[in-house]
Amino acid sequence: MASGGLILGAGSLGRLWAACLPPGAAAFVSRPGQSPSLYCEYRLQTLQGSSVNVSVPWQSLPAPYTPAALLVATKAMHALPALKGISESLPKSTPIVLFQNGLGSQQAVAEAFPKRPVIAATTTEGANRPQPDVVVHAGRGTTWVGSLNAAGNEALTPVVEFLFNSGLQVEATADITLRLWQKLVINAGINPFTALLDCPNGQILKQPLYLKHIDGVCEELARLMNHEGMLTNASRLRADIEVVARATTHNTSSMRSDVQNGRATEIDFINGYVAHRCEALNLAAPVNRMLTEQVHSITNNH
Ligand code: PAF
Repeated sequence: MASGGLILGAGSLGRLWAACLPPGAAAFVSRPGQSPSLYCEYRLQTLQGSSVNVSVPWQSLPAPYTPAALLVATKAMHALPALKGISESLPKSTPIVLFQNGLGSQQAVAEAFPKRPVIAATTTEGANRPQPDVVVHAGRGTTWVGSLNAAGNEALTPVVEFLFNSGLQVEATADITLRLWQKLVINAGINPFTALLDCPNGQILKQPLYLKHIDGVCEELARLMNHEGMLTNASRLRADIEVVARATTHNTSSMRSDVQNGRATEIDFINGYVAHRCEALNLAAPVNRMLTEQVHSITNNH
């Protein structure tokens, strides 16, 4: 697989991409010090409901070929440390494609590797992992891909062509930051409430905690986005959040699932990012700060 890609992070999203790319086109990166088995084997439940056996090789680095791209499908807090752990063994020309939720981790990677092609992706593909060896492709979506630095601009077309091989819908965008903000808005308005209330997405809409605080979340977000040059307002953001909460009414959000499974959440890259950016700019963000602290208080990732 001379032009195959590598995937860092074998969670539901990494496994979805690995399963959709043609056989031999992707391998999971084994972390330094880890000696996993030769293949990562699991079942993919497709959108049509069929069950397909998937077998993806684990590749230790350096790979014996120049990878077409490195898809980073870890949680936001693991992206930079994981990349630092393998960057010495990755060709400098290999594009790094970041699939993290929220904001902050992508910028940290772009700053840490200014000469490497750094690209960000945001997706509305639905994937979950009800059992360790089962990945469910729960909903068709679009994956937006755009560069975060000059080297990334040049790498964008080949990366999009590589991702096209998956058959998933992939679109290049000149403004990935706007797409990342749009996804952050949805996550900031759904995820902490589902985690704190321990309920599926649609059920937050009638809960007093949500009704009391959603306008505050959206006002703080709108103020910050306007400051960053994106024209919007709180009622529009709330409407966007509620469209997604209704469309995914029975889904368990990634943050609720993290809390249920005792894993660290991405709150610091979602509401925590909003609070942190606002505070740095002397804009008040008490509601996003409060939600961040409350999610920390029910988890251990302080
Ligand atoms: O984080 C998630 O789970 C998803 O992005 C979303 C949109 C909240 C739907 O579950």
